[in-house]
Amino acid sequence: KAPEQPSSKLHLPTLLKSDYETDTEVSYTVVADEGQTSFREGPLTETYGYNGSYLGPVLQVRRGQQVHINLQNKLEEETTFHWHGLKIPSDVDGGPHHAIEAEGSAEVDFTVDQEAATLWFHSHAHQKSAEQVYNGLSGLIFVEDEHSDSLDLPKEYGVNDFPLILQERFFDEDNQFNYDTVYNFDGTTGDTPLVNGTIRPYIEVGQEWVRLRVVNGSNARNYQLRLSDESFFYQIATDGGFLETPVERKEFLLSPGERAEIVVDMSKYKVGEEVSLVDISTTEILALQITGDKSGSLKPLPEKLNDLPPVEADSLPDRQIEMSGMGHMVTLNGRKFDLERIDFTVEQDKKEVWDIAVPNTSMMMGDMPHPFHVHGVQFRILSRNGSPPEAYESGWKDTILVPPGEAIKIEIEFSQPGIFMMHCHILEHEDNGMMGQILVE
Ligand code: C2O
Ligand code: CU
Repeated sequence: KAPEQPSSKLHLPTLLKSDYETDTEVSYTVVADEGQTSFREGPLTETYGYNGSYLGPVLQVRRGQQVHINLQNKLEEETTFHWHGLKIPSDVDGGPHHAIEAEGSAEVDFTVDQEAATLWFHSHAHQKSAEQVYNGLSGLIFVEDEHSDSLDLPKEYGVNDFPLILQERFFDEDNQFNYDTVYNFDGTTGDTPLVNGTIRPYIEVGQEWVRLRVVNGSNARNYQLRLSDESFFYQIATDGGFLETPVERKEFLLSPGERAEIVVDMSKYKVGEEVSLVDISTTEILALQITGDKSGSLKPLPEKLNDLPPVEADSLPDRQIEMSGMGHMVTLNGRKFDLERIDFTVEQDKKEVWDIAVPNTSMMMGDMPHPFHVHGVQFRILSRNGSPPEAYESGWKDTILVPPGEAIKIEIEFSQPGIFMMHCHILEHEDNGMMGQILVE
């Protein structure tokens, strides 16, 4: 068990300065590099990061904008830059086909063709994603648009709008991650929770609505989060955009790769009080300390956040996808990944219905929940074991946790051509071959 650390102020990822920007264009440079990070007392930890020693900055893009990104790999091994959740053509998606060698560079260009959302990016190197992400290769993407500009929601970065990248790590006696020695083929975890790379973080907030953009950036762990005093809060967004209306919740589950945005009413606490975001295992994740008062009463949240297109709940599935096994035995549709593999071909701009299942049959091999993720697309949930989705998961999704014995029906439509991956977002399962590919044409 890690020794207790004093609490520190939450590290706020830098909003990356663009190389140039107009209303219609933006250009960024993203550098994957090695570094040393001070997480706790004692020696520095050898880490990876983007434009810094651990994790990365926030890339801010707008719907309709043309984005140009300069990619530089300063690592001593190859890597890729995958834009998780962006609806972009597969040749710029940064999957395992797009390795950039050590000391190499590349450029990608794409147009943002989707609504406001909190997305992220991370390494997707062939059979190396888990280790590289564990060492620190992930960052954030905020998509904004005219609609999100017009919504009266907290949007002062670091004041009432905070991104939270949740992870956990083991530190050895020299404070190193030592991925190889803590490696677990069902997902490498840790005993020390980190938020944006900070151990036992706190933020200082006013008596107002506070928005938390929560990203499960861990390799394998599911987080089940609530407030320490069990207060209600509102979920306003899923992976790919705003929900139709704010949904009152007391607890929410995020599997690796998933995001949720919540807003918390801090006006009911007094200055000097503190409430925490905790995992139900009661590990403290983040303390919110009320320091500033705000005069006047709290404005209600917007009643309507989004117009989600209706879905055909009882459509019959066009495809069956099965994730099964554990450890080295993991497969997707009975096979392991290879770079040539194409599971099926779908038509661009055509709705399909997929059934995603995790069997609950194997006594020998065991079964576990797997977070299913598809590249280059945002999909909608039609049903879980035949029942309609809860309001909080009826928005745009790109990753969904599938428990054993459950079948989830989704409606999916690719707007971009190319070869896209689908895989378990337990990164060690992905690296072990629980991944397939879809050809869109
Ligand atoms: Cu976030 Cu294929 O991954
Ligand atoms: Cu899995």
